[in-house]
Amino acid sequence: MGQPVKRIDARSKVTGRARYVADVKIQGMLYGKMLFSPHAHAHIKGIDTSKAEGLPGVWAVITAQHIPGENQIGVVTPDQPLLAQETVRFVGDCVALVAAESASVAEKALGLIRVDYQTLPGVYTAQEALGENSPLVHQGGNLLTHLKIRKGDLKKGIGECDILLEETFHTQRQEHVYIETIGALAIPEGDGSMTILGSIQCPFYVQKGVAHVLGLPMNKVRIVQATTGGGFGGKEDVPSEICGFASLLAWKTHRPVQMILTREEDLRRSSKRHPMSVTYKMGATKGGKILCAQIEVLADVGAYATLSPVVMFRSTVHATGPYEIPHVKVDTYGAYTNNIPSGAMRGFGTPEVTFAHESMVDELAAKLNMDPIQIRLINGLRLGSQTATGQVLRESVGLEETIVKAKEACDWESKRAEDKRIGPSRRRGLGASAMFYGVSLGAKGWPLDGSAAAVQVHQDGSVSVAIGGTEMGQGAQTVVAQMAAECMGLSLDRIAILATDTSLVPDSGPTVASRTTVFSGNATLNALEQIKRSMTELASELLAVAPEKLDFRDGQVLGGGKKISFDQLVQHCYSRNINLGAEGWFVSPPCSFDEETGQGDAYYVYGYGTQIAEVEVDLDTGQVQVLRVTAAHDVGKAINPQGVSCQIEGGVVQGVGYALLENFMMVKGQIQTPDLATYTIPTSLDVPQVEPIIVEAISEKGPYGAKGLGEQPIIPTAAAVANAIHDATGIRITKLPIGPEALRRALLEERKEL
Ligand code: MTE
Repeated sequence: MGQPVKRIDARSKVTGRARYVADVKIQGMLYGKMLFSPHAHAHIKGIDTSKAEGLPGVWAVITAQHIPGENQIGVVTPDQPLLAQETVRFVGDCVALVAAESASVAEKALGLIRVDYQTLPGVYTAQEALGENSPLVHQGGNLLTHLKIRKGDLKKGIGECDILLEETFHTQRQEHVYIETIGALAIPEGDGSMTILGSIQCPFYVQKGVAHVLGLPMNKVRIVQATTGGGFGGKEDVPSEICGFASLLAWKTHRPVQMILTREEDLRRSSKRHPMSVTYKMGATKGGKILCAQIEVLADVGAYATLSPVVMFRSTVHATGPYEIPHVKVDTYGAYTNNIPSGAMRGFGTPEVTFAHESMVDELAAKLNMDPIQIRLINGLRLGSQTATGQVLRESVGLEETIVKAKEACDWESKRAEDKRIGPSRRRGLGASAMFYGVSLGAKGWPLDGSAAAVQVHQDGSVSVAIGGTEMGQGAQTVVAQMAAECMGLSLDRIAILATDTSLVPDSGPTVASRTTVFSGNATLNALEQIKRSMTELASELLAVAPEKLDFRDGQVLGGGKKISFDQLVQHCYSRNINLGAEGWFVSPPCSFDEETGQGDAYYVYGYGTQIAEVEVDLDTGQVQVLRVTAAHDVGKAINPQGVSCQIEGGVVQGVGYALLENFMMVKGQIQTPDLATYTIPTSLDVPQVEPIIVEAISEKGPYGAKGLGEQPIIPTAAAVANAIHDATGIRITKLPIGPEALRRALLEERKEL
């Protein structure tokens, strides 16, 4: 624990032995396909499935009318039918499903289904959606959510500022591009229950969603997570839809049905990062103290709410960045449109606002002729600071250390002072960006914020741990195994982490919000402590040593000069019928948020980070190469430092994509980037040198002091890159991604003497 270890799932993955859901074939299995709407907004007048049903090899064609339970799959707001019934609201809405002997027959059957549509006028931007007399996406109106923060006296704050800046920023839709597309295998069991194996981030969401549409009690639906090739938030709620489709077909045909999305289907159906327009007014004194922030965020939530209300909560709480600002007014709005739904993606509404506030902080520094690092140190949150929600930070605030360490590691002062010109048309620049991020679900998700683990010590002394959190590549299983090994004084190879299965562990909430290390970790420790108590009691009797003197170390239980091997003690326990199985539970410390004022302890603790990007800009082409990113992150205790470094590297690369390349484009509700030839992500040639720096501000409530990190490294990268471009060229770009055309145009418009 606390040492770099090899991931316990590495070997099976690199040798190709790990079984993803597409690798599993069972006898009698059928293949499922879905029919998408070609329209972004239309009324369904009729569906004729007769020809498709008559095609040899077709076993079932299903439309909304066949659903035995409730046709509703919305995870936070009940606004999303599983199969469109009267209206389609985006081009990923499905109107029919087919199960056939092969995927190609199913595909052919889709072509035989006739749907009579009457197209409707649509809305395609959040601004348009909130305009008067705009077409309605849902009957209740296009405004889904409005969240507020009111702190201090904004008017007074503005009055006291020596400098006040205002700017609007725009961010784009981003796709997760997990390496494995979403897939499910639904198996109808003899007793009327349904077992589903799938590529899933949140099995307990799927269990609830599938039970709901099948009209079954939840104890008749079992979800098992197959090895999952990445999620990044994209497999949070969308798998409930795909597993819902597969299980409807399995229910209808009484045969197992596999549904593996092609990349194009996946891009069309799965939610994306929210496109946002963000307006900031920020003011400071001559000395660089930020006194006020007035912020308005407008997000396009797309056709259905999915997780937008909670994503927008994060945008609201994190809108002012990791700074103590006395006077704050924040309004965040989410509006329905006829675009693809926006939903959960790594950082959950925070990278968007971070791009804006970190650009603003740099602009303030530039106007005040102040070093960007200095302004961050003056205003940065520290112990005792009060956040925008009025929360006083009483523990584990590592921001300052991340700023100082990143600055030192990248040689900030001498590099900023260097000549930016490195050739007739090439310029170099250095940019900084800081962030904070609430750990776990916070006040808005508190009722879901408990997690379980079920642990068993077997007769041979090996240990099985079942957790409710999932592994999707982030290394969660390894850190939980490390903590279990540490707790029991065993080597890592004695611990097995089981595939996440809703029949093994109580509902543990979702695997999101970088919560697994803390929540599955603490739940596992809670279970192990119960087992340890029983084992200690018996060891005390056998060794005639007081229980408080006994320690579990190096495969032994020892103390008072005596010892017994762990395995022998286990044998004794079994021979006396002592239970060596236990269930552990961990619940988030309390959080609060007043809907009117936005005041409260929004999250129980926060992670912090600072990144510094070094870029080279080609003035002739507008092309930006990110050369190096120094990334210092406060993670509480780093359980597996190597895993932390890898998460930082991965997050930075995804952040570079967000900054420079990625843009899931829609025009009038139609997708312009339907595949990976048109939606571009960084390749190995775009990857900068990443220098991860681990800062450990220990958190009281974390297992061994951990806070988790999974999402954080993507959050500050885009702003650091934009600030570095500004340092290199003097151009402030306010819209992501910063593609070569946009930068070249801005360079020409500014007619900079470069
Ligand atoms: N890393 C990999 N390799 N694959 C992933 O899918 N998901 C990210 C992050 N890092 C992801 C990843 C997201 S969105 C989250 S919420 C966290 O991991 C979840 O992991 P944790 O709860 O173990 O921190």
